[in-house]
Order: sequence, then structure tokens, then C-alpha cells
Amino acid sequence: MNAAGATFGGRLDRLPEWAALAEHRERLGDVGLRELFDADPGRGERYRVQVGDLYLDYGKHLVTDETLTLLRALAEATGVGALRDAMFRGEKINTTEDRAVLHTALRAPRDAVVETDGRNVVPAVHAVLDRMGAFAGQVRSGAWTGHTGRRIRTVVNIGIGGSDLGPAMAYEVLRPYTARELDFRFVSNVDGADLHEALRDLDPAETLFIVASKTFTTIETITNARAARDWLLRGLDAGAEAVARHFVAVSTNADEVAAFGIDPANMFEFWDWVGGRYSYDSAIGLSLMTAVGPERFREMLDGFHLVDEHFRTAPPEENAPLLMGLLGVWYGAFFDAQAHAVLPYSHYLARFTAYLQQLDMESNGKSVDREGRPVTWQTGPVVWGTPGTNGQHAYFQLLHQGTKLVPADLIGFAEPVAELGPLRDQHDLLMANLFAQGQALAFGKTAEEVRAEGIAEEQVPHRTFPGNRPTTTILATALTPSVLGQLIALYEHKVFTQGAVWNIDSFDQWGVELGKVLAKRIEPALTEGADVPGLDASTSSLVARYRALRGR
Ligand code: F6P
Repeated sequence: MNAAGATFGGRLDRLPEWAALAEHRERLGDVGLRELFDADPGRGERYRVQVGDLYLDYGKHLVTDETLTLLRALAEATGVGALRDAMFRGEKINTTEDRAVLHTALRAPRDAVVETDGRNVVPAVHAVLDRMGAFAGQVRSGAWTGHTGRRIRTVVNIGIGGSDLGPAMAYEVLRPYTARELDFRFVSNVDGADLHEALRDLDPAETLFIVASKTFTTIETITNARAARDWLLRGLDAGAEAVARHFVAVSTNADEVAAFGIDPANMFEFWDWVGGRYSYDSAIGLSLMTAVGPERFREMLDGFHLVDEHFRTAPPEENAPLLMGLLGVWYGAFFDAQAHAVLPYSHYLARFTAYLQQLDMESNGKSVDREGRPVTWQTGPVVWGTPGTNGQHAYFQLLHQGTKLVPADLIGFAEPVAELGPLRDQHDLLMANLFAQGQALAFGKTAEEVRAEGIAEEQVPHRTFPGNRPTTTILATALTPSVLGQLIALYEHKVFTQGAVWNIDSFDQWGVELGKVLAKRIEPALTEGADVPGLDASTSSLVARYRALRGR
């Protein structure tokens, strides 16, 4: 079966399964979660699924058994399973770029066989992991020294998008597992302030740069990498020969790496069948592996693999990513939900939602289907969120009483990390907040309940909570490397499921190209006052004002 054949290729909104869902939605009307729970006392026990260490409670969703059956029928009709199998088989399901989508091979065990273009990619994956392990071990032990013979104290990852967000997020998540004597910094923005703040207190003799870029042509990364190289050579008062001990590269593009002046022996490769936003368990994770060590990194990969296998083999009724994806389809299509909040009750997950923004929004922020026709259904939501309890004191007001329906994921852990010591005592309070928010969002507070508290009548509408705000609660024992891998894979396959149902290519990102091209064109107008053909009147007056403000 070719890639296109793996999808249903049709119009989603003309499927009978879609019509059946629309009709079902009509019939549900404004039935609320209180009624659903009253009518079905077994719901709390039944609406849950376990995948690896992750326990998912989805009882607080505006669904019934019939909804779930109809959603699964939609998944079947849209060929989610067939496309999934085509992905795992290495078929070129990224049709607009004619590429296979094989991030799952990055975490396949050493003896697995995953072929694309007639070649088993697994040996190469493990060869790079082994090289990364050896390098990370040298930096961690101090055996890798800089140009002047001093050991490395700080590792600076320079990359952007998928070459930054993954390692930067995972480094925060796994901080308790990191070599605390080493410092890790992540520079992404072409705003010179990013690099400046990262480098201002560093000693070049003890600093190692990892330049991470799939293409090695991304202007932000190359600009920052050049500036970092100048900083290093200036600081060491050395020539280009010093670069080899202070710069390594992660890329698919050996020619550009060599052109930059990095020894190909110091390059860790990956492949075009790894999408940028799916790449942090490839060599893009080199900074992370250096921080946590190869063993912990492999535990994380095993966590990914566990959920890959679950997604590939679990029956639809117990398939957690499939279920999460279908719930999102339900709210987008039939409740006009535009957004999805991911709210981790863990400080260590501070950058988790930012990571998911690229994963989800770059994958499913599309408005034509795989055949290039405009879609007439909602695709990817706006994904946002920050750790609880902070968000409760900022934007939760809108979640509880605003006019928008924002389905949310609440993520929490039973065990706080050991090194918190006496601060572990605060963990129950943190988790009490998570459970309280799930309950308040789902069941709200009726006007009668408010009145019963003796509140003055004119105050009652203000203090009433409508409820029926759906949440999935994801609970695990502890935030380990494996659990992190499981969580990310869960979301990857959720995003996959939604893209398959919506019949869009989740693996290209043409929408980021236009801005890149225009920026290149506009830059000479800012620096030299060059004429930019085709500049609109608004932008050209902004350019003129900018130049005037800069005294040009
Ligand atoms: O701008 C989009 C994008 O292509 C992302 O998909 C990617 O993660 C990022 O840029 C960085 O690209 P690269 O790794 O090639 O520098």
C-alpha cells in the first residue's frame, strides 16, 4: 500500500461516521457532567486507561459510551490504523516532502528491523547512540578537555525549534538526574541578547558548544554559532585550530557542517526521516545525554518505545493516544473548541507545554487536506499552558467562567523527587490543587449551591461556576526518564491520530517558510536602506520608521 493509499483520501465531513457523530452531538444537547455521572455510577472506574506508568482518567469528558464508539468508528473509517502501520513500516507518509516518518525507529531496540528505501535503519541509529554515549561520557568525566587542556564546565546548545525545544525542555524535566557539576545552557533566539546572557559569565576555555541543526542552514542557528565561534577564538586568543575542542555539531548535513569549520569527526548525524519536532531522541538530544548520561537517556528511549508499541498494538478501546486524539477531534468539530491546555502540576515540566506547542501546532496547523483541498473542519488547536499551581492565579478564571471551552490535560505525579528533602511535604498540597481543579472544572457550582451559602442574590451569577469543562488527568508514580519518554510519545501519537482523522500531512511545515524568505529580503532594507521590491505600504513605512529610530 502506498502512503496515499494508507489514508482514506476522502472528505471527512461527507463520511457517514461523521454524520453519525453530528447527530449524536445534537441528541446529547447540553447534557452535563453531573447528569452523566449520576446516570452512570461506574463511569469513574470505567473511563480510565493504563499505558506503561501512565494512568489516564478520562471520566470528566463530555462523552458517553456511544460517543466513544462513534469516535472509534470515525478512526476506523479514516484509516488511522492503516496510516499508523504505514508509518511504522517506513513508508513515505510525509507526502509533500516525499519522506518516511520514522522517529519511532530512534527508540527501537538494537535488534529491531525497521526499513525504509530497502535499508534497515536501526544499526545506524544505535551506532550514533553509541558514539553519543562515548562523547557524553568523556565530557562528564572530564576526559574531554578544551583547547587549553582545561575540562569542560558548561555546555551550550545552539539550535532552534526542534533542535532546541526538546533538549531544553527535557533538561529541565530531568534536572534531578543531571550531572550537577556541569552547567547546560540553551541558546535559540537570533536576538543577540540570548547568546550574550548565556555567555557573559563563562570562561571560553571551559565551554563546549553543540550546534544542533537538522539542515545546518537555519539562519538563527548559524548566526549564533558564528558569533559563538568568534567569542571563543577572541577569548582564547587562538586560531581556528581551537574550534575542534569546543564545537561539535548535530545535523543531517555533513557538507554544511564541514563548511562551518567543524571537523566531521565531531559531527553526530541523523536522517531526513526524522522530523525536527520529532528529533530530540536522535543526536539532537546530545546535550541532554551529556547532562543525564547515556543510561538515563536510554531509559527515556525505552519509555518512548513502550508507548510506540502500545499505540501500534493496543486495541482501540484501550489505546491511550488514539483516545486522546479522538477526544480532541470531538471538541474541535462538535463544540467548536479552538484551544487545548496542557497543565502539568510539576515545576520540572515548566517547558513541557512549550515543547508540545511545536509538536502539535507545527504538525497539525494546516488548512488543506493531503490532497491539497481546503478543509472544512477544524484542525489543530491552539496549545498552551504553564505549570500548576501558577496558572490558577493567572488564567484559570477564563477556564472556569469564560465563554470559551478549553479542554485541558492535568498531569501530576504521586512522588516528589527525593532531593527535595523536607520540601517533599508540600507535594500533597500541590496535588490537592490538581484534583480540585479537575473537579471544579467538571462539576462547577450551581446557583442553588451558591444561594445555600447565604450569598446575596445579586452576587449569585458572579459566583456560579457552569462546570462541564472537560479534562483528562494523567497520573504517574514519579517523573523519571522513562516516564518523560512515555509522556512525549503519548502526545506524538495523539497528534498523529488527529492528523490522520483530519486527513492532513502532519509532518511537513511549509507554513514557516514565507516568513523566513521575507526576513531575508527585508534585512538589507534595514541595514543598507536597500529597495525591497513588493514591500507593502504598511511594512515599508514601518521599515522607514525603524531606520529613522536607529539614526540611519
Ligand atoms: O522553522 C521550522 C523548522 O524547520 C522546524 O521544523 C525545525 O525544528 C526548526 O526549523 C529548526 O531547523 P533546523 O534543525 O534545520 O535548524
